[in-house]
Amino acid sequence: MKMTQWINTRTPEELDRDARQLFDDHFGTKPAGVWAAPGRVNVIGDHVDYAGGVSIPFALTQMTALAVRLRSDQRVRIISQAPGAIDPLSFEMELSEVGPKHPDNWAGYVVGVLWAGQQSGIWPNCPGMDIAIVSDVPVGSGLSSSAALECAIAVAAFELTHGHAPSQEERGQLVPVCMRAENDVVGASTGGLDQRASLFGVAGKALVIDFHADTVTLVPFDLAAQDMVLLVADTNAPHALNDGQYASRRGIIDEVSLALVGEGKTLREIAAEQALSQADAWAIEQGLDASIVRRRLQHVVEETQRTLKAAEALQDADMAAFRQYMQESHESLRDLYEVVTEELESAFQAAGRFGARMTGGGFGGSVIVLLPESEVEDTVAQISRAAADAGFPECSFLLAVPGDGARRLS
Ligand code: GLA
Repeated sequence: MKMTQWINTRTPEELDRDARQLFDDHFGTKPAGVWAAPGRVNVIGDHVDYAGGVSIPFALTQMTALAVRLRSDQRVRIISQAPGAIDPLSFEMELSEVGPKHPDNWAGYVVGVLWAGQQSGIWPNCPGMDIAIVSDVPVGSGLSSSAALECAIAVAAFELTHGHAPSQEERGQLVPVCMRAENDVVGASTGGLDQRASLFGVAGKALVIDFHADTVTLVPFDLAAQDMVLLVADTNAPHALNDGQYASRRGIIDEVSLALVGEGKTLREIAAEQALSQADAWAIEQGLDASIVRRRLQHVVEETQRTLKAAEALQDADMAAFRQYMQESHESLRDLYEVVTEELESAFQAAGRFGARMTGGGFGGSVIVLLPESEVEDTVAQISRAAADAGFPECSFLLAVPGDGARRLS
């Protein structure tokens, strides 16, 4: 019998120590400080952030930590120890060379934020930096390792250039900076859910994010009080959000919104039925497959309505209703939005469907299961067995608990 793989989670103190050690080993000196930001799990409301919808994520206790020191020139040097990797990766670049699609690798999430903050005037004269990165947020698992990296460098750069940590309002200004790095430099047209969760997370709380009203409301997410837990099963079938699949889904929704409600407005401005019927006519006029357009739009409209109802269920501590919405959300992402892979579906079915769903962008990544603590062991075994029987990669697991957002560790 194989042992279940549980995802490694260090305490903030351990991450801080390891980031400092890596910095010292590589650069031979001490950093000015260590900053960290969490990954996130999205409990419900996927593929609606870029359409003015509603999502309920929370920040994980798994974090990415960066030991940082400013330089007197414009050079950025990075050493990064990714989770599970044997050797650290290193990278160097002049800040003046950063721009759209450049660099075209993982380092774009870091130097892209420095570039975007410069461009938007938040740190106009940002100097170069030496940066050592350690992380417990698994890469390609749908848990936003990219946002963790972006938000950690954003709070570090903010504090090092302003002399104080960002206020709540200033955190809000860091959201578009991190998004710009991801959209323009990395080339993933993502919608801002992940960065808000990583910057505004609070221990013990989930976030109800309304992308139309641009508000973040904290709600208690105390599963332990109900003897429940949120299990994450990473299918280890990696996903990438800059390979065209995500952009193709978003592209349709952007075009329909523009045609139906106009520039700068969201689909929430019109009634669901009106949106769906007008979209049919629009698709035919454009020579598009009307049934595909309708399915995509139906997901967005219904997922938003479902997430609003899920937020109410959470307020009322009605976990049975909440678990039903999770299942319906997964089915919609599978049947209407078509972002669920075979590996995700296998985990969803093996978990018993009720209270289970894929999380994040899809096309690989993780399934989450909200379930009584007493059922964890069996559910883990069932998911693992189903993956093995189908010849899929072995899954790894963690129990997700709401943690605090991006901050200085030391
Ligand atoms: C990814 C993106 C987010 C969001 C989710 C799906 O995580 O980065 O902006 O669109 O997918 O909800």
